[in-house]
Amino acid sequence: MDIILSGIRSTGQLHLGNYFGAVKNFVKLQENNTCYFFIADYHALTTNPTPENLEHNVWQVFAEYLACGLDPEKATIYIQSDVPEVCELYLLLNMSAYVGELERCTSFKEKIRKHPDNINAGLLTYPVLMAADILLHKATKVPVGKDQEQHLEMARTFANRFNRLYKHTYFPEPQAYNFGEALVKIPGLDGSTKMGKSEGINNALFLFDTPELIRKKVMRAVTDAGPTQNNQEKPQAVQNLFDIMKVVSKPESIVFFEEAFNNCSIRYGDLKKQLAEDAIAFIKPINEKINELLSKPDYLKKVARIGADKAGESAQKTIKEVREIIGFRGL
Ligand code: TRP
Repeated sequence: MDIILSGIRSTGQLHLGNYFGAVKNFVKLQENNTCYFFIADYHALTTNPTPENLEHNVWQVFAEYLACGLDPEKATIYIQSDVPEVCELYLLLNMSAYVGELERCTSFKEKIRKHPDNINAGLLTYPVLMAADILLHKATKVPVGKDQEQHLEMARTFANRFNRLYKHTYFPEPQAYNFGEALVKIPGLDGSTKMGKSEGINNALFLFDTPELIRKKVMRAVTDAGPTQNNQEKPQAVQNLFDIMKVVSKPESIVFFEEAFNNCSIRYGDLKKQLAEDAIAFIKPINEKINELLSKPDYLKKVARIGADKAGESAQKTIKEVREIIGFRGL
């Protein structure tokens, strides 16, 4: 049976793009698979957050995961730093990771370009830590976005290299898990093709946003002067609004505005009002659940403890075996 694992960095709140692109599918996967889902808070350290910010963000994302339907009874849901065995595997894998291959990694090059003042070694070895996350539970399927595929490729390289170095078929090769048809890409409100936190907060609708904020962001979304010819192609920014409607609105509403666009009678203000109300209605129950969970820190801690214990069991087994293979056979 496949072991599925995925992590999310605790650097910001979840938005509709995360929900439809990832978390919603995690919720389905947990029904029939052995799943590990974790908050990658060690990874979040590469940007040196304050202790208060670090802690706050971890619980925020943890509550959001649960509010979306991840179930601690079905999947192992944990916080990375609660399972410190990952640090040992990270250290061990670092010994056979080459500086050259790490420097060639696209995400590393991108980060040096963006933050030339903080090129720490943690950024360089980010893919090694990610490989340690995956290999710690011998995961075979890793649902990740396109931007993480190179990291996953490196995890395969490190797994194979370890196996070859120690002449053991120990780590399985982790493969990208492709949602296929189920993969829904949510575009941004600013005309860009991707809803994402790095594109600026007005680009994305967050699950934690208040109705007022959602309304404000949607009403400000980029459009144009409107169609001038019947059945013309939609400009990207307008197509984006229709694409977001596809996941939050009723089919009748979409048909209504499609027709209005095609006969040039559309008023973008009306489209936005409809989209805003539908997004609010969609987000509301999740938003309420997040708030409810955040008001129960003891419950959240209990759930995190259960996850850490389950993940810890699997992690300790791997570390014990890896130490043995490597030759740490002391006590
Ligand atoms: N690097 C991933 C991201 O930025 C997060 C992550 C950390 C991850 N460890 C992982 C994803 C292991 C999948 C598997 O999105």
